[in-house]
Amino acid sequence: MTSIHTLNQIIADAASAPSAHNTQPWSPRMIGDGEAVELRVARTRTLPASDPTGRDTLFGLGAWLEAFSVSAAAHRVDFDVELLPALADPEAIVHARSDEPVLRIQLRRAPDDGADGQGSGTPNENASPSGSASGTGAHEHGTAVHTPGSRSAAAGGAAPASSAGPDSDRQLLASRKTVRSDLAPAKGLVIELASSLPDWLRLVPVDADDLRHFSSLGTADTLRDPAVARELAHWLRLHPTHPRYHVDGLNDRVLGLPAVASRLVSPFTRNRRLREAAVRIVTPVGELWRRALLEVPVSAAGEDAPAAATAFVLVADSKLLDLGSGAEVTRVLNSPLGLPPERVLEAGQALMRLWLMATARGAAFAPASEIIDSSLAQGELRYRLGLSRRDVPLFVTRVGAARDPNPPRAPRR
Ligand SMILES: Cc1cc2nc3c(=O)[nH]c(=O)nc-3n(C[C@H](O)[C@H](O)[C@H](O)COP(=O)(O)O)c2cc1C
Repeated sequence: MTSIHTLNQIIADAASAPSAHNTQPWSPRMIGDGEAVELRVARTRTLPASDPTGRDTLFGLGAWLEAFSVSAAAHRVDFDVELLPALADPEAIVHARSDEPVLRIQLRRAPDDGADGQGSGTPNENASPSGSASGTGAHEHGTAVHTPGSRSAAAGGAAPASSAGPDSDRQLLASRKTVRSDLAPAKGLVIELASSLPDWLRLVPVDADDLRHFSSLGTADTLRDPAVARELAHWLRLHPTHPRYHVDGLNDRVLGLPAVASRLVSPFTRNRRLREAAVRIVTPVGELWRRALLEVPVSAAGEDAPAAATAFVLVADSKLLDLGSGAEVTRVLNSPLGLPPERVLEAGQALMRLWLMATARGAAFAPASEIIDSSLAQGELRYRLGLSRRDVPLFVTRVGAARDPNPPRAPRR
C-alpha cells in the first residue's frame, strides 16, 4: 500500500498543475488508507461564463492528472485510472454542482506488498465516462497516448517530459513557467514538442502578428459579455491586502502589472458596486474595440506560414478519433466541446507534457485562450490556418524563452 505520506506528496505535486484564471478546479479525496484517490470538481472553482463548454476545467483536470502521474512515477507508485460518468455531466464540469467524482485513481499494490505488481499498465477498460467498455481509446489508432499510471512508457508510448528520468520530471513540475511578457523564439521547439503528441493531436504554428490580432479580437469580444467581465474581476487579486492574494486567482505580480495600475484598479475588482460600474464601462469599450478590429483584413491560409514559430494552436483532428457510428458522431461533433470529454481530458494531459517539455528546454508558455473562447476570433483563426470542420482548436499559446528566468509563480491554495 502506498503510504499516506507519499500519496499526500503526490497530491501536493499534482496541485502545481496550471488552470484557467488559476481557479484550481480539482478536489482530490483520499479513499481508505491510501488505496485510491477520487477526483471531484471543486465547487465555485469553475468559470461558467467564460468556459461554458467546460473545456478549461477539463484541461485543468487533465493537467492535474498528468502532474499526479509525473509525481507518482518519481515515487515509484503505479495506479489505474477509471473515468466516471460525471466527467460527461455539464452540471459537474461547467457548474461544479455535483458531488459525484469524475475519476478514480486506484493505487496498485507494490510488488513487495505481495501483489504481483506486474500490472499491464493499461487504463481501466471501463474508462469511458459513458460507461461503455471501450476504454479511453488509448490504444486505438496506434496512438501514442499516455497511459495514466503506467510508468512504462511502452504501455502508452508517451514521451517523457525530459530524458533524465522520473525524478527530474518531478522537479520540472516546480519550475514550469507561465508568463505574459515577451518571449524570445526557441528554435525548433514547436517541432520538437509536436513530436510527442498522439496522432489525433497536432500543433499548428501561428504567426506572431496574427496572434496579436486574434488575441485583441478575442479579448474585446469576450469582455463584451458582462458575465465574463465579472468572472474575470472575481478572480483578480491586484493588491496583497486581497484576502485570497496568496491562495488562488491572478495577482498583479503574475500578470506583470505596474504597482500604480494595480493599486488603482484593485478596488474595482473587490467592491461590488465599483465592480458593476467597471463592467458597465468595459463592456461597451469591448464592443467598440471589437468593431474596429473586425475591419482589419485577415488573409486566408496560404504559403506564408511562419518559418520560426513562436506560437502554436493545439488542434484535435476528430476524423482520427473513433466517435462511434452515424448519429453518435453527429451528436459528438455538435456538442459544445466538439469532442468526447475524455478526449479533452487527455488533451489536457498532453498539454501538461508539452509544458513540462518546454520547461526542460528552458522555455515558458504565454497562453491566449481568449482566441478559442471568442467564436469570432476562433473563426478568423480557423480561416487563417485553414482548419477544417473536423479540426477542433483547443489551446493557443506563445512559447519561448522568458526574459525573466524566474518569473513570479501563481499561488496555490
Ligand atoms: C486551460 C488553460 C487556459 C489558460 N488560459 C490562459 C490565458 O488565456 N491567458 C493567460 O495569461 N494564462 C492562461 N492560462 C495560464 C493560467 O493562468 C495559469 O496556469 C495559472 O494562473 C497558474 O499559474 P502557473 O501556470 O504559473 O502555475 C491558462 C491555463 C490553462 C490550463
